[in-house]
Amino acid sequence: MISMQNRERGLKKKLALITGASGAIGHGIARCFAEEGTNLALADLRDDELLDLKEEFKNFDIETQCFSLDVKKQESCDKLVQDVLKEFGKIDFLVNNAGVLGSSDLSLGMPMEDIADSDWDETYQVNTRGVFFLCKSVVDHMRSSNSGRIINIASRAAFDGREFIPHYAASKAAVVSLSQSLAKELASSRITVNSVCPGLIWSDMWKKLSPLYKKKNPELKEMSSREVFDFFVQQTPLNLEQTPEDIGRAVTFLASEDARTITGQSILVDSGSVMR
Ligand SMILES: NC(=O)c1ccc[n+]([C@@H]2O[C@H](COP(=O)([O-])OP(=O)(O)OC[C@H]3O[C@@H](n4cnc5c(N)ncnc54)[C@H](O)[C@@H]3O)[C@@H](O)[C@H]2O)c1
Repeated sequence: MISMQNRERGLKKKLALITGASGAIGHGIARCFAEEGTNLALADLRDDELLDLKEEFKNFDIETQCFSLDVKKQESCDKLVQDVLKEFGKIDFLVNNAGVLGSSDLSLGMPMEDIADSDWDETYQVNTRGVFFLCKSVVDHMRSSNSGRIINIASRAAFDGREFIPHYAASKAAVVSLSQSLAKELASSRITVNSVCPGLIWSDMWKKLSPLYKKKNPELKEMSSREVFDFFVQQTPLNLEQTPEDIGRAVTFLASEDARTITGQSILVDSGSVMR
């Protein structure tokens, strides 16, 4: 009898390309792959910060390389894929995780007229178009190997809207829809495309969002940024925030042999806040 511990999940010595790897969730996803023995190509706009991850994974039996990337530019996505293929010879898993809430001086909605055009454009360029650009860059390689897993990080906001950040929710709903369309198109090449939809993870994104919520909502005015985040966590059925590794484990599951017949799906990792 084969013991569960020895069961091959199909992740060892494979190559995962992860975008937005300098951020909290990207880091957690990378750590979960590293624990499975998956080699890592880590990419981010803030590529200096990737060096700390490379150092952290030195003691794992894997190879890690860091790459500079701006997902807003197709040529940057194409160059990344070429550089990763030159370095590793293959890309088994693509994790589109890079994301933003808006421009650097984000203004929250409610009323909706407060959403600036720049917030709308920046969010769509990174969260939605960026995912499509990178899928386009990698798909030739995946088609030629008749295999591949694409995992897109969307959000629980994709499913029930968010009144203060409608542009962000719409960009993530588009990611879910895009994943389904690509899943249909690429199934004949045995490439699966799924999305993971996080709920609430304490990250730079929330550090930016909390002070803005405080300005808009008198009930939150006296709270620290972390207390504002906790306030939202308390609204979820399980009353538990997600860790970056909670997201990472859903991603490694979708990349693993256990998920070989799952495509076009969205996994909500959100303490039950959206139930479908
Ligand atoms: N934190 C949450 O509660 C939460 C909830 C739902 C979904 N998400 C999604 O999870 C993903 C990761 O978010 P996070 O919380 O780790 O945020 P984060 O801000 O810590 O990380 C985002 C990363 O994306 C990178 N990035 C931004 N623009 C880029 C570009 N043009 N090219 C390449 N990289 C770029 C940033 O440099 C950063 O390292 C995002 O897609 C986000 O929308 C987060």
